[in-house]
Amino acid sequence: MAQQQTERVRLLVVEDDEELRAQMKWGLSGDYEVLLAGDRPIALEICERESPPVVTLDLGLPPDSDGVGEGLLALAHILERDPLSKVIIITGREEKEHALQAIGLGAYDYITKPVELEELKVIIRRAVHVSRLEREHRELQKRFGEDPFEGMLGASPQIQEVFEKIRKVSTTETPVLITGESGTGKELAANAIHVRSARKDGPFVVINCGAIPETLLESELFGHEKGSFTGAHIQRKGRIEKAHRGTLFLDEIGEFPAHLQVKLLRFLEDKKVERIGGRELIQVDVRVLAATNTDLDKALREGRFREDLYYRLAVIKMPIPPLRERNGDIQLLAKAFLQRYASKNNNRVNSFTPKALQILESHMWHGNVRELENRIKRAVIMAEGARLTPADLELTTAYTKYQGQSLREAREALDRELVLQAMARNKGNLTRTASDLGISRPTLYELMHKLGIEKN
Ligand SMILES: Nc1ncnc2c1ncn2[C@@H]1O[C@H](COP(=O)(O)OP(=O)(O)OP(=O)(O)O)[C@@H](O)[C@H]1O
Ligand SMILES: [Mg+2]
Repeated sequence: MAQQQTERVRLLVVEDDEELRAQMKWGLSGDYEVLLAGDRPIALEICERESPPVVTLDLGLPPDSDGVGEGLLALAHILERDPLSKVIIITGREEKEHALQAIGLGAYDYITKPVELEELKVIIRRAVHVSRLEREHRELQKRFGEDPFEGMLGASPQIQEVFEKIRKVSTTETPVLITGESGTGKELAANAIHVRSARKDGPFVVINCGAIPETLLESELFGHEKGSFTGAHIQRKGRIEKAHRGTLFLDEIGEFPAHLQVKLLRFLEDKKVERIGGRELIQVDVRVLAATNTDLDKALREGRFREDLYYRLAVIKMPIPPLRERNGDIQLLAKAFLQRYASKNNNRVNSFTPKALQILESHMWHGNVRELENRIKRAVIMAEGARLTPADLELTTAYTKYQGQSLREAREALDRELVLQAMARNKGNLTRTASDLGISRPTLYELMHKLGIEKN
């Protein structure tokens, strides 16, 4: 660190006019380690070797000194190599539209010829500053990503509270009931508990109680002996047994069929399973976690979920707050996802337009983190420019249309519109509508109820 502060920042000047190049070197060498290039190949070579954080770029480079093709190509290559590079475009007065085009491609700023040295110095200083902040931020995020929460990101007090709870419960053997809307990170939280526990080298077995047909669930969970029913050609261990010495995660526990609840309860009480058609009780060493995005209290009141089972599972409750209630996390997550998918799919994309950020903040995020992640992934793949726009995020019509209404009115109107559109697209099939919207079926029902939308 100390060395970095005494070391001068490297600045690459790309300029084909030899005289101008010499002038700039002379004017800037007092503050920076100035590197010079007269054309695109040399500029790229220097970038490769020296990774200068800031570059000034003349758009008219040979062999196309009168056009901007070489310059724009150089810009694209520099940003592709290092999306955090700050490229300052230097351009003729009458070529302003090219400068703007370059900004659209991800250039940091532009300045017109003849270059005023003092003005240029101010822009460079600011670019160096921004670049340093971004790099520090990226370092922090990298460290965040490697933290023991298995990629669960967030700096809001609301999610930090969840992290704190995960830290505490992971050292115990107590069952935990994780609750929260669809896409809030319940499975991620369950996994984090497992990974931080003494069972981390054992299996983490997930069973989605809502997705497995009722008739198969019993054998999936408890296993069966050969010949115990038609089709049981071989003996099979159930998932509970497979979780031996590890963690069993019962996802969507609210959908657990009534007729199997007693059997599950018995297992939770004595940690023994009996395979279907089997005669012996097998001792299993598992820690049980469960999750639900439905209102279990309601299922309890209506008698669809056994109270004794509920108390067994919900010794500790871990509610995960919806994304819209996590102060500051939308931007943090959005930027992290942008970086993740840009480096995988489209290196050119490096940020959001201010309008896009504003819309991200005000969106309702019924599908929570999953919806945010999916939107950004899609946008990064499809984006034409360097900064994601509301259109890239498919959040555009809503914004312009509802401007001027109160936030709540606008959100409701937008929700209604999106739900109705999705229902129409899926010809009224609610399962498909829910998955289209990235939310669970119960969440969709709730939303329809709130918005007064009838099923048909
Ligand atoms: N805090 C977070 N940081 C980074 N990624 C997250 C975070 N929370 C959730 N995700 C991501 O969002 C997606 C949904 O998370 P997860 O499957 O854990 O949600 P869930 O609550 O189990 O959803 P559902 O109720 O629909 O099953 C995953 O891709 C996950 O990696
Ligand atoms: Mg889940």
